[in-house]
Amino acid sequence: MSRNLVVILDFGAQYRQLIARRVRESRVYCEVLPYDTSAERIREMDPRGIIFTGGPASVYEEGAPRPDEGLYELGIPILGICYGMQLMALELGGEVERAPRREYGAAELFIDVEEPLFSGISSPTRSWMSHGDRILSPPPGFEVLAHTANSPVAAMGDPARGLYGVQFHPEVAHTDQGLEVLQNFLYRVCGCEPTWTMGSFIERAIGDIRERVGDGRAVCGLSGGVDSSVAAVLVHRAIGDRLTCIFVDHGLLRKDEAQQVVEAFGRAGLGLNLVHVDASERFLRRLEGVTDPEAKRKIVGEEFIRVFEEQAAAIARDTGPVDFLVQGTLYPDVIESGGGETAAIKSHHNVGGLPERMRLRLLEPLRDLFKDEVRELAAELGLPEEITWRHPFPGPGLAIRIIGEVTREKLAILREADAIIIEELKRAGLYREIWQAFAVLVSARSVGVMGDERTYAYPIVFRAVTSSDGMTADWARIPPDVLARISSRVINEVPHVNRVVYDITSKPPGTIEWE
Ligand code: XMP
Repeated sequence: MSRNLVVILDFGAQYRQLIARRVRESRVYCEVLPYDTSAERIREMDPRGIIFTGGPASVYEEGAPRPDEGLYELGIPILGICYGMQLMALELGGEVERAPRREYGAAELFIDVEEPLFSGISSPTRSWMSHGDRILSPPPGFEVLAHTANSPVAAMGDPARGLYGVQFHPEVAHTDQGLEVLQNFLYRVCGCEPTWTMGSFIERAIGDIRERVGDGRAVCGLSGGVDSSVAAVLVHRAIGDRLTCIFVDHGLLRKDEAQQVVEAFGRAGLGLNLVHVDASERFLRRLEGVTDPEAKRKIVGEEFIRVFEEQAAAIARDTGPVDFLVQGTLYPDVIESGGGETAAIKSHHNVGGLPERMRLRLLEPLRDLFKDEVRELAAELGLPEEITWRHPFPGPGLAIRIIGEVTREKLAILREADAIIIEELKRAGLYREIWQAFAVLVSARSVGVMGDERTYAYPIVFRAVTSSDGMTADWARIPPDVLARISSRVINEVPHVNRVVYDITSKPPGTIEWE
């Protein structure tokens, strides 16, 4: 029996990892490989199925990516998606036409043959299309399984050989029963079993890290967020004491955050080497008088690199040369910064110059994962809940949540207001379903009245958004009574604040942070 594994061949699809993610969600292990991986190599891997992703090319373009033709002879089921389907159609003798214009968006899919690919799928069903070429007639041996108004062959299959193609994108959420279609391919066509777990991911990741690092040493900038924490714990499991984590307190953290992070790691008994540096004086001094948001980001970034370098140098003096820098880069970060090996650092990330300057190699064990998968991993690794579920927090911290100059007084106000917001959201049971919630302090003042007195004080902006990856977001529909409680507590308990406003802007056109 072949391995319970599916190989995804990448033809340049922008969201190829989304297919991988859906396969993992279906509890089947998968690997994404380049489209030109040889049939021989794939035969050796012995997978139960192969998926061809979509891609931006037209099958008629010169130099359009093509797979090894030997793949069709392996007797392994193949599912071609979009471009992958057109390739299969063309190569096996079907008729593919260059459509006069691209079809993009939702289309009603009418199912002509139910078993096995469309078993349990209603007809018509909403499917998401994004293609230029279309198939006029399927290759010999194939039958038409579904059509739309624009695509006479929206799905095709040759059950005898286990070859299938779909014109639409089953991996995207806009395709109503897309996951079921993929699962029909995995379970019914390939005979995969839903047995893969995050536990198996951990074992594999640890093995890979060991192999890559050898007997080298690594450092990790721990922020207390879930991504860097999970990356650190994974690498620690792999190389133990040869990893040292550096937690830099830049004085721009939330209320009691430094203490909470250090305690959480201590309490979790994870045994990490953790160096805690209080560098707040240095950062705050350099931020004096600075109001421009990009200038603030730059200062925090530069200073962070300096502190980190000093600490890493001290570690190297104590333990021997350091070779790797561990980062908790996730798949959406890779996409946002354009993909590729070197572009892997978060687009907004402040330690961008670090690996080159220190001649460190990057170790990014979470590169293929999405946030919710990382949280699942965190739970599996035994990380404490306050880290697993912590909202994302930007590198420059509160510096970009204070509009205007950063002062100690404003930081103190913002921390108190922020802590009340988070406390009330947790109390209302809303914290986990919100992607990020926080307070922003605008350096303007407005008039109010408290008791018999006229006040002239700061407004606090309350921002809470829902999102799945931070790339797009919507403002959270917080129940009015929770908003009321937050407003009254912030105004009553935080000095120098006399007004609370709620931000009802989605992203786009807004961003999540105010600066
Ligand atoms: P925006 O504001 O661009 O934020 O919608 C998207 C996500 O990125 C975080 N963010 C940052 N993270 N350094 C970081 O490490 C930064 O300079 C930065 N700016 C924004 C933001 O909190 C949200 O999760």
